[in-house]
Amino acid sequence: MKQWTLEERYRVLKSPNEIKDLHTKISKSKYRQSYHIQPVTGLSSDPNGFVYHKGTWHLCYQWCPWGAVHGLKYWYHVSSKDLIFWKNEGIGLKPDCVYDNKGTHSGSAISINDELYFFYTGNHRNEKWIRTPYTCVAKVDDDGIPIKLSEPLFGPRADYSEHQRDPKVFYHKERKTYYIFIGAQTQDLRGCVLVYESKELLNGWHFAGELKVIGFENFGGMWECPCIQKINGKDILIFSPQYTKLPYRGENTNHNVYIIGKMDYDTLTFTPETDYQHLDYGFDFYAAQLASNVSDPDKAIIIAWIGLPDNHYPTAEEDWEGSMTLPRELRIKDNRLIQTPISGIESLRHQEIEPTGTLLNACEIQINVRNRKFDLNLFTDISGNGGFRFHYDETKQLCTIDRTGLKKRFNEEIGEILSMPLHSPLKHLQIFIDHCSIEIFANHGEATFTSHVYPMANEHHYTISENNALKIWSLNASIKDDFII
Ligand code: FRU
Repeated sequence: MKQWTLEERYRVLKSPNEIKDLHTKISKSKYRQSYHIQPVTGLSSDPNGFVYHKGTWHLCYQWCPWGAVHGLKYWYHVSSKDLIFWKNEGIGLKPDCVYDNKGTHSGSAISINDELYFFYTGNHRNEKWIRTPYTCVAKVDDDGIPIKLSEPLFGPRADYSEHQRDPKVFYHKERKTYYIFIGAQTQDLRGCVLVYESKELLNGWHFAGELKVIGFENFGGMWECPCIQKINGKDILIFSPQYTKLPYRGENTNHNVYIIGKMDYDTLTFTPETDYQHLDYGFDFYAAQLASNVSDPDKAIIIAWIGLPDNHYPTAEEDWEGSMTLPRELRIKDNRLIQTPISGIESLRHQEIEPTGTLLNACEIQINVRNRKFDLNLFTDISGNGGFRFHYDETKQLCTIDRTGLKKRFNEEIGEILSMPLHSPLKHLQIFIDHCSIEIFANHGEATFTSHVYPMANEHHYTISENNALKIWSLNASIKDDFII
């Protein structure tokens, strides 16, 4: 794999012409997605600034233009009217001031009085490469141009480590107060959330305290990308804990979890009503962000990065990698999270296909599982060998997914076999395949499994155990691979 020098990773993009040829090259890749958001060039990672504003959904992603490398990060902006069809908009935020000289890192957006704001981490480094993360704001005008505030809202606290970032801003109506949650690490290397508050959006921010999450005082070494929302009367806290291994996650040390509970803003205490749960059981899912300004109080909308920190993927050779999941709707039922693909996703269906054992590059599969013993093997060769194997063990109510059978193997060291426990017997699967990803929703959103896959030309078949009703649809493209910078 290519070794990047610091200069190459942190090179500033001066003109779109510098990456035009790269875009032309990668747009020919057989792994370019057709209905998932993917990097215009280079690398995409965390979703940022996900918001509904004046009739349009806006989303940005962490973007490094030059290749499959975590270097100088921009926000790349896409927009949608329905969360299904997306349009490339160009750069959302660029590192161009002293406070973000080494990257506009992750953050969120808020729409207030018809005005749109991006809150982000300015990743500053000095000549000795010492990092200072600032919480910065840009007001985005109607043409999508961000006007940065000349000074950050606040800098890092000296009583925590340098890892303080990913502001998630929100307004608490009853308390008439704005809050920012910051993902952080204590000086003794424990993950936590720092809470800031203010009566005004752009002034008066002060540190309110560290969020007490009862029972989670020592859970991972850094919590990235925290967010919180009330749905169906319960609070749901979501974050990405690092530097720890967790059950069901193989050797991986980067995770994305949620906890359902009660948030007390007077004492800054989150009291869990459940244990933590994995937001997704797949190989590649991280840094999920809840959308801001969702009007329905009983619904939350989330999107995540199909990918993981510290990992790279086969398209790195082609100088690009990463993509976003489909947006998902979240609901809480019986103290459990239910995640379903964004409503209206059926509008992507092009045609129902005869289920003869062949897969398409972009398709949806639905299966009514009728047998107690169930096996599904996707991306096999024509004789049913190899592939991405899904096995259901009825006695344990456990699905096991094994990707060792794929020809293009990757990130073997974190594990290629993972399990997904269910709360009820497996009855239904809904599966979305795009050119380099797969998302599985079990039992209408009871558990989900997201992974990259890079099938070769002869890996487009499937086998399924007998008597299960399978339907398959080809899906239309919903995002054009336009070169807009
Ligand atoms: C999560 C993360 C964030 C950070 C961003 C930088 O993947 O490490 O904490 O802001 O990526 O790209």
